[in-house]
Amino acid sequence: MITIRIATEADLQEIVFMSAESWTKSGADWWKDNSMAGVKYVTQQIKNGLVVVAESDVDGMVGYCITSRLWNKMHIDDIYVVPSNRSNSVGRMLMEWIFNSVAPDIKEIASDCDESNELAIKFHKALGFKVVGFVADYWDGEASIFLVKKL
Ligand SMILES: CC(C)(COP(=O)(O)OP(=O)(O)OC[C@H]1O[C@@H](n2cnc3c(N)ncnc32)[C@H](O)[C@@H]1OP(=O)(O)O)[C@@H](O)C(=O)NCCC(=O)NCCS
Repeated sequence: MITIRIATEADLQEIVFMSAESWTKSGADWWKDNSMAGVKYVTQQIKNGLVVVAESDVDGMVGYCITSRLWNKMHIDDIYVVPSNRSNSVGRMLMEWIFNSVAPDIKEIASDCDESNELAIKFHKALGFKVVGFVADYWDGEASIFLVKKL
């Protein structure tokens, strides 16, 4: 069984371990060079109640979603499911938990994906996100697709 819940500070190490693997693989060199900045950012988002984790009763923690919020705008900063648990609805459960739990003043959630990450773009579209924009050279040097989900 998979349980979705808000992350606590006790989850920090596992989230950082998973996120380091995810960001390093995607070529995000800033993570390797400035890992403390990454840890501080995840810690802050946990303190703000903006990180959600997926826990399997068999495999332990199998995914997370880090969000950020500015006034009534919410953004999916990062969503990750461990390879062994992919295509098993864990990502969907994380997103749907967030859709159902956001404050009522939040009417839309934004996200972005590297243009080359076709699977992530398919995933977002399957969850009801619509493409709203494109930036040719985003923060990690890759072209990015911007998406919005209306709640
Ligand atoms: C993107 C990611 C979070 C998806 O998580 P997941 O748990 O594997 O996805 P789900 O099983 O919940 O699938 C939800 C939908 O995504 C799509 N999808 C998932 N895996 C897919 C695959 N292998 N091929 C095609 N579509 C797929 C399907 O439309 C699926 O809908 P369905 O359940 O109705 O078939 C996961 O692949 C991942 O962690 N990737 C690496 C990190 C990453 O790229 N994050 C996104 C950054 S923008």
